Amino acid sequence: MSTAADRARSESPTQAPPRLDLRAAAGSGIFEYAPAPESVRPAIADRYGLFINGRFTDPTSSKRFTTINPATEQTLAEIAEANEQDVDAAVKAARAALPAWSALPGKERAKYLYRIARRLQERARELAVLETMDGGKPIKESRDVDIPLAAAHFFHHAGWADKLQYAFPGREPKPVGVCGQIIPWNFPLLMAAWKIAPAIACGNTVVLKPAETTPLTALRLAEICAEIGLPPGVVNIVTGAGATGAAIVNHPGIDKIAFTGSTEVGKLIARAVAPTRKRLTLELGGKSANIIFEDASIDQAVEGIVEGIYFNQGHVCCAGSRLFVQESILDTVIAKLRDRMRTLRVGDPLDKNTDVGAINSKAQLATIEKYLESGAEEGAERHDCGSGELPAKGYFCRPCFFTGVQPSHAIAREEIFGPVLAVMSFRTPEEAISRANNTPFGLAAGVWTDKGSKIFDTARRLDAGVVWLNTYNKFDPTSPFGGFKESGFGREGGRHGLSAYLA
Ligand code: NAI
Ligand code: MG
Repeated sequence: MSTAADRARSESPTQAPPRLDLRAAAGSGIFEYAPAPESVRPAIADRYGLFINGRFTDPTSSKRFTTINPATEQTLAEIAEANEQDVDAAVKAARAALPAWSALPGKERAKYLYRIARRLQERARELAVLETMDGGKPIKESRDVDIPLAAAHFFHHAGWADKLQYAFPGREPKPVGVCGQIIPWNFPLLMAAWKIAPAIACGNTVVLKPAETTPLTALRLAEICAEIGLPPGVVNIVTGAGATGAAIVNHPGIDKIAFTGSTEVGKLIARAVAPTRKRLTLELGGKSANIIFEDASIDQAVEGIVEGIYFNQGHVCCAGSRLFVQESILDTVIAKLRDRMRTLRVGDPLDKNTDVGAINSKAQLATIEKYLESGAEEGAERHDCGSGELPAKGYFCRPCFFTGVQPSHAIAREEIFGPVLAVMSFRTPEEAISRANNTPFGLAAGVWTDKGSKIFDTARRLDAGVVWLNTYNKFDPTSPFGGFKESGFGREGGRHGLSAYLA
């Protein structure tokens, strides 16, 4: 017996509930959340000096440059430009501090590193906002990745400071001396932590130069060093551009240079250091490959691929900028990639919902745009992604991927350092490995498959310092990081990273 309701249903058949069409939804604004701007605004001084021998001093030339917020193009502060004389003063301060610092028992040095780590945690919110304002990266990344990892590096190395003889049994660990450290703009505070923490844990003293577009968090770190009572001269922070970096590299009073940045400048530094007794580690560019085999968990792989290319707007030396997909699943992967990348929110880096923030500088945006043009000119097809309008002011770039890419295309060979992915296909595992290795770089790689034996076989044969298996962009102070070939040499993190700071 049928009820009245049943009869009504059979007379006017109800429609199936509408399925969520992700593509239409992305365009319709369904993925746009209400603005959720971070409310903290850290105090920023009008001008900053150089941190030499435990205090801030004016540059001898009185020259200054400005650092801006790349999302608004507004000036944040005036920064001192260190010349050779200033660098010399910093190196002398580091040299003078070396005997007492290196003679301090490891457990005493450790206390200072612990204090820095805790202070970074206590001031985490302020540092995260500052990092985002000065460099353009989304607040959720500075808050959840950069600052916690920077603190983790100090904690980790504090733990090593009194155990160096156990890290290297049979060897009497001694510091290298005065270390000159030059870092880039993509992870400003994190790179400062990667450089300073192992150096001072091992009893060295340092002169560090942050990148000219992102000096503010390194200068905050200088304040923290003073605040926690780190002996003057152990950490010196000088600001400036390439000429200041070159003054550090060429200073005869420096025992070791550690550089992270472009392959081009890395080569210049290698040439300058070659005829000297200085030690050198270089962490340079990359063109890392993600390889998806047909047996991989595709949704998981797509999530990792997307994270590997848009994280920090692609300003990541190990960005997974080349994607090799096994031919049988190419169409599926491309469709899923398009759907997922359409949902990325591009815009105000201080908004907690933003996935893709501002490009770090006008110059970097111009570089990326040049590659976008070359991709089209060489015959690849570009797929623009990301939801919402790009802000009218500031340096922004829509994340995208290219299909129909040939290995000879510039977008498949050169480091772009932006949210731009080159998608290619392969038939056999042999082909995947040889194509992934067909690059002058060798920093990182990702392998996606369900098969354990394939994972280990592929990882072993890839020329890359780091190979992530069914994941991507995972960093930890206990794990060494660094490259092969033109991606540089030397490792940072883990015991390998410590050994670079021991004679
Ligand atoms: P860059 O290599 O010029 O800058 C990195 C650092 O080196 C900065 O602190 C800079 O002031 C310093 N520097 C510049 N010239 C120097 C010299 N002659 N001697 C000593 N230090 C010097 O990188 P840039 O021009 O900002 O970016 C260009 C390209 O480099 C990017 O498009 C990207 O492809 C790559 N890059 C790679 C990075 C990585 O983490 N591997 C980081 C930054 C850039
Ligand atoms: Mg800036």
